[in-house]
Amino acid sequence: MSIAITFLGHSGFLIQHDRYAVAIDPFLTGNPVATLKPEEITCNAIAITHGHADHIGDALAIAKANDATVFANFEICEGLGERGVRKIESMNTGGRVKTAFGYVALTQAFHSSSIGGHYGGMPCGVVLNIAGVTFYHCGDTALFSDMKLLGEIYQPDIAAIPIGDRFTMGPELAARAAELIGPKVAIPIHYKTWPLLVEDACGFAPDGVEVRVMEPGERWEYGG
Ligand code: NI
Ligand code: MN
Repeated sequence: MSIAITFLGHSGFLIQHDRYAVAIDPFLTGNPVATLKPEEITCNAIAITHGHADHIGDALAIAKANDATVFANFEICEGLGERGVRKIESMNTGGRVKTAFGYVALTQAFHSSSIGGHYGGMPCGVVLNIAGVTFYHCGDTALFSDMKLLGEIYQPDIAAIPIGDRFTMGPELAARAAELIGPKVAIPIHYKTWPLLVEDACGFAPDGVEVRVMEPGERWEYGG
């Protein structure tokens, strides 16, 4: 089956199939490369990798506007619940929740997490299974060898991998990550947004994995 993948810029995606639409890390307000506004996002669900502002982004406003279900770690869900989000699926690292469209799982990520300076729980990656397609969003992370195991377990069709360096892996280590995970296609993320980050994906060249560079606002129909 096919899914539509729209890159929102930085680490954000909107993934759609039939009547389901899932936003991941919808950071639009204050995102210099974003092409969409929060009020232009229509979704049933939002998955959040960690509490940093460039990931939790506009999740609160989008969740409220769409009455969308939020999938995230316990601390993020508690925080959004207290601020009026009605539908939350509180989870934690290593857990999976089955959904009407497939499942959402949270994986480990080597990073930090806070929400406006407060403890944000563990940072995570998100594995989204929708219409039989599996999309592994690595979140913000360093390289770790269990990426190979996660690749074997979830067999992702697509992996979104941070390559921007400084706060995450740079292009060379991200290429090693792609080789460990072994998806059919790797999409580089978390670069070029600000001058502190690597400015292009040229150095991201994993062996044996197709790289698809997506521009903010670009929509890609995968599968079929
Ligand atoms: Ni972060
Ligand atoms: Mn980040």
